Amino acid sequence: MKAVVYKGPRDVVVKTVPDAKIEKATDVLVKITTTNICGSDLHMYEGRTNMEPGRIFGHENLGTVIEIGSAVDRVKLGDRVCMPFNISCGFCENCERGLTGFCLIANPGNAGAAYGFAGMGPYSGGQAELLRVPYADFNCLVLPPDAEEKENDYVMLSDIFPTGYHATELAGVQAGDSVVIYGAGPVGLMAAYSSIIKGASKVMVVDMHKDRLALAEKIGAIAVDDSDGSGVDQVMALTAGQGADRGCECVGYQCCDHKGHEVPNLTMNNLVKMVRPTGGIGVVGVFVPEDPHAKDKLAKQGQIAFDFGQFWIKGQHIGTGQANVKAYNRKLCKLIAEGKAKPSFIISHELPLDRAAEGYENFVARKEGWTKVILKPGH
Ligand SMILES: NC(=O)c1ccc[n+]([C@@H]2O[C@H](COP(=O)([O-])OP(=O)(O)OC[C@H]3O[C@@H](n4cnc5c(N)ncnc54)[C@H](O)[C@@H]3O)[C@@H](O)[C@H]2O)c1
Ligand SMILES: [Zn+2]
Ligand SMILES: [Zn+2]
Repeated sequence: MKAVVYKGPRDVVVKTVPDAKIEKATDVLVKITTTNICGSDLHMYEGRTNMEPGRIFGHENLGTVIEIGSAVDRVKLGDRVCMPFNISCGFCENCERGLTGFCLIANPGNAGAAYGFAGMGPYSGGQAELLRVPYADFNCLVLPPDAEEKENDYVMLSDIFPTGYHATELAGVQAGDSVVIYGAGPVGLMAAYSSIIKGASKVMVVDMHKDRLALAEKIGAIAVDDSDGSGVDQVMALTAGQGADRGCECVGYQCCDHKGHEVPNLTMNNLVKMVRPTGGIGVVGVFVPEDPHAKDKLAKQGQIAFDFGQFWIKGQHIGTGQANVKAYNRKLCKLIAEGKAKPSFIISHELPLDRAAEGYENFVARKEGWTKVILKPGH
């Protein structure tokens, strides 16, 4: 099969590799029809993780079931399925509580597994023609009859739509709240979209890229252009000096100041400033336990200089971590099926798998107009 293989920093190649196959009776084999490039792939692509060369990327996957392991009960041949990026067993202590992003079985010795991901188990990604799906009865979301027609919407259920929603849950967003979202990448836009779906009264999205901010405005959010570094002041003015009720971090450890220099504590400390006393902050942007290639001394060890005193005195709370996609994907799927949500609005480029390298180059450069790239194997 053809697959997107990581060769080293800023170097991916589409090449022929051995076919993915069923390895356990609980697996299914999926022929991938859509697979996305994600901001999380970029940390690996840029060589800022310990991703091993030779591995296949791709954790946002949708396709058709073409083979079924002997112990699979529910999922049938020909089903159109979307997989959470988390691989989870369904029966461990964390999975039982719905915390499928922290499965204790799928990646022994760690909490959490994923396809094509550094540090999240040996699983191959789905930026390929075929994908092995473990614990398939648990992990496959079988899509409704309009799966093909709305494929570009449903594929967002694999990660960014639930992840954006998760950010709002961690922050505690409820109807009527004002929300500030850091980052207008795909995840930030989905957090804004989720806040609007939940009935937030005011949604402010901070970024420096005008094309991405324009998308935020298109869905009814207020764009806060931080290209002159005035983002905090703008949000304070928009909230009558009080700060927003809730804040979502959707950038992660590679966040930059308005001059483009990495300042790893910038978004977190600004959120402490921008969120009102007793407000909540949800952090889905990725922070890593070590970052040997960081310029910042603390960041090398996975640390940031966090304004804990300010955070404490304001009585804020914070929630972090990988999204438990399965906790939300079925409900969000219903919103798409009923025409109440259309997350495909963020897609800027639809490329055949063969052109994946071009997708990575442009997306990592945050080149104007490259908001979200989806790949179509078999085209
Ligand atoms: N927790 C999870 O389960 C989960 C799932 C998916 C993605 N993620 C993470 O979410 C983050 C965002 O992903 P994405 O796909 O949207 O990526 P992205 O890199 O395309 O988007 C990040 C955006 O943040 C902006 N940005 C950078 N520094 C900024 C600053 N100081 N102020 C304002 N904006 C700033 C960039 O301009 C960019 O538009 C990544 O860290 C990704 O790894 C987490
Ligand atoms: Zn992703
Ligand atoms: Zn589990």
